[in-house]
Amino acid sequence: MDVLKETYTLSNGVKIPKIGFGTWQIENGEDAYNSVSLALKNGYRHIDTAEGYQNEESVGRAIRDSKIPREEIFVTSKLESNIKNYEDAKKAFEETLKNLGFEYLDLFLIHAPWPWNEMGKDCSAGNVEAFRAMEELYEEGKIRAIGVSNFSPSDLENIIKNNKIVPHVNQIGYFIGLDQKETIDYCREHNIFVEAYSPLGIGYLLSNSDIQKVAEKYDRSAAQICIKYLLQKGVAPLPKSVHESRIIENAQMDFVIKEEEMNFLDKIKGDPRRWE
Ligand code: A2P
Repeated sequence: MDVLKETYTLSNGVKIPKIGFGTWQIENGEDAYNSVSLALKNGYRHIDTAEGYQNEESVGRAIRDSKIPREEIFVTSKLESNIKNYEDAKKAFEETLKNLGFEYLDLFLIHAPWPWNEMGKDCSAGNVEAFRAMEELYEEGKIRAIGVSNFSPSDLENIIKNNKIVPHVNQIGYFIGLDQKETIDYCREHNIFVEAYSPLGIGYLLSNSDIQKVAEKYDRSAAQICIKYLLQKGVAPLPKSVHESRIIENAQMDFVIKEEEMNFLDKIKGDPRRWE
């Protein structure tokens, strides 16, 4: 079966397509519009954006122009990392809907436990407030599932203790080399679904010689090995590309990585991302 038609089921019963199209670092305008259009044309039905990516307008327009019924596409956006109170969270959500040109969202996430420019800051109370606003929007039917992103077990614990709803999703950077074991174990235990952003290590994993060896053995590309590895871990990878051939390649998943190679890939350690 075409993997783009396959879904996972969140703890509230909502179905989420297994592979999502990531749009981080795709510029608003032609780039975002064209790449989302190409993803939809090639069968993707799960699109991931964020207020912070500043491309919601073009992403929404591409989705609307595709003429695919809105309910057939799973769309995620995220609350900006610096918004840590109830009122502003509500306002930001309305802004996101307006940017996208939608009546509702499938998934809305707190983008990070702290503002990006104050990483590590304790925003526990603010996260509880922001999540409370999201719970209300969820209960009003304006969002089908709510969650968080970049949350550690202690960040999640804070929400579980102080809010009503256990987040349905935690979206984290997860790829070969960065095993995220503690967070993934915690999420499994609490039935929080994991989405994996940067499945290719923002591209840097593709030159890893061990991954290339496995790719050769399976007669696949390194990108396909990286994405399939995550699917076999039971998470939803969110690969990004602005090239149609790669968008297609990243969803050709009609093969299985055997246990022996999964174990070999598990042994690769280190985060290859370079933040220059
Ligand atoms: P481009 O958008 O120019 O195709 P990640 O999903 O981990 O963030 O990785 C995204 C990066 O990997 C982008 O730079 C993207 O470049 C590149 N990329 C995506 N898919 C492929 C592919 N199949 N082969 C090679 N590079 C890819």
